[in-house]
Amino acid sequence: MKIISDIQELRDHLRGQNRASFVPTMGNLHEGHLSLMRLARQHGDPVVASIFVNRMQFGPNEDFDSYPRTMQADIEKLEKEGVYILFAPTERDLYPQPQEYRVDPPQQLGDILEGEFRPGFFKGVCTVVLKLFSCVQPKVAVFGKKDYQQLMIIRRMAKQFALPVEIIPGETIRAEDGLALSSRNGYLSTEERAEAPELQKVLKEVRERVLQLKDRTSQSISEIEKVAVASLAGRGWQPDYIAIRQQSDLAPASNEQLQAGEPLVILTAAKLGKTRLIDNLEI
Ligand code: PAF
Repeated sequence: MKIISDIQELRDHLRGQNRASFVPTMGNLHEGHLSLMRLARQHGDPVVASIFVNRMQFGPNEDFDSYPRTMQADIEKLEKEGVYILFAPTERDLYPQPQEYRVDPPQQLGDILEGEFRPGFFKGVCTVVLKLFSCVQPKVAVFGKKDYQQLMIIRRMAKQFALPVEIIPGETIRAEDGLALSSRNGYLSTEERAEAPELQKVLKEVRERVLQLKDRTSQSISEIEKVAVASLAGRGWQPDYIAIRQQSDLAPASNEQLQAGEPLVILTAAKLGKTRLIDNLEI
């Protein structure tokens, strides 16, 4: 595997490759990332991965400084997966001058859910992803469904800018007890790690209630959300949101849409101690 930090050198190496398959990451790779590498291999060749902890998508009180950086272990994992190039730019490589041009996703998608609790997050994500696409010029790029809103925003960005890249979604990989794999799981204490699968359990309970709603109109979707938030809070979590939304655009779902069979998704973000976890479940 070639490890490249310089944009020009990356372009020289990829010259003439028009089927490259790209997986952008922030490193600290786990089985979820590696499943995206395997998916990338099914959709193009060569596979290019990137590792870049993107300061621009972290808020001032977030974990940019403490975000786990495990480059040597990551390199070994990517080599085993047969990744052809690891693009690992420094901040100076990727942002040689202050990044004054930025991609601002539409408010109705970028400022809700994660965007409401992490202002500017999707601006930072879209800007770096557009820049990484411009460096790698892949035919396809793979993003995990665990970051459901991110996946949707990037898909729409690619479409609106007519970027010649196909966005492929990768399924969420979970531990045996149901916890979605995430680099931030490493922050959890032993007790918190034992409690963490509760997040997925609550999502499953919400799904059951929503499906029961199909036959009844007595309870509303927002009541189900409130009950779920209270249930997590009662166990010591600090939930940011549990939201039942339309899969098509993440707008709030109504009972009528549910009756009409509109595909829905439940999204959640909640803090357990100091660790903020996100997850989602499609209905
Ligand atoms: O999902 C991530 O790891 C990051 O948001 C991404 C897409 C690599 C952009 O920094």
